[in-house]
Amino acid sequence: MRVVITGGNRGIGLALARHYLEAKHSVHATARDVAKATALRSLASDLLVVHPLDVRDDASCRALGQALGDAPVDLLINNAGVGRAASGDPGEILAAFDTNAVGPVRVTRALEKNVRAARGKVLFISSVLGSIGESSSGGMYAYRISKAALNMAGSILAHELRPAHVTAVLVHPGWVRTDMGGPSAPVPVDVAASNIAALAAKLTLADSGRFLNTDGSEIPW
Ligand SMILES: NC(=O)c1ccc[n+]([C@@H]2O[C@H](COP(=O)([O-])OP(=O)(O)OC[C@H]3O[C@@H](n4cnc5c(N)ncnc54)[C@H](OP(=O)(O)O)[C@@H]3O)[C@@H](O)[C@H]2O)c1
Repeated sequence: MRVVITGGNRGIGLALARHYLEAKHSVHATARDVAKATALRSLASDLLVVHPLDVRDDASCRALGQALGDAPVDLLINNAGVGRAASGDPGEILAAFDTNAVGPVRVTRALEKNVRAARGKVLFISSVLGSIGESSSGGMYAYRISKAALNMAGSILAHELRPAHVTAVLVHPGWVRTDMGGPSAPVPVDVAASNIAALAAKLTLADSGRFLNTDGSEIPW
């Protein structure tokens, strides 16, 4: 299987890269600054290719598509994201929106040909914090608005890709111990990666367009 993981240099993305390499899959992992992505590059393997990618940059997303050429991609994991700034500063909201909602659209568009070629799967790593149905508090404008928008983006792409037998799903990974999740998060990052991979393996076209926890249970939009 060929897997593409954005934001592969730390956190959940790095753990996913490690997970799929250990399972002997071909992994294309991205980092904004490849030179500084030492943890990712230290996974050195014939099965690993590290690509530069800034999901806020159209040209960078197109370059990733060009680097992959016509190679079929079985699994695209749109994982790169920015975190939990608390304020409602409009600039901060727009920046998070660009990364968390528009970025995965740029990347998925750039790799659409590859995913279609494999009749593959696209995961959007979203968050329960983007669920309007589960919303019970104020705050975290930038993150929550951007993840709610990501959910709609994923839903649109799921509809558009379904005729090509591509399965696209929004996933909440749990509260995970990473730079973003912080030290109090209950889920270790390697467990989150295994959970995401287990869910991905089970998904079928019938799941496309759903918003799920890693145990497969539905999250309200
Ligand atoms: N941790 C949690 O509890 C939790 C819960 C729900 C959802 N999530 C979601 O899970 C995903 C991964 O989170 P994480 O906890 O692993 O976060 P993290 O440790 O902060 O890592 C974020 C990753 O995204 C990359 N990134 C940020 N902006 C980018 C950009 N413009 N272009 C390309 N890459 C960019 C970062 O690269 P740099 O190193 O260059 O910054 C890094 O590799 C995110 O989408 C997050 O919203 C996390």
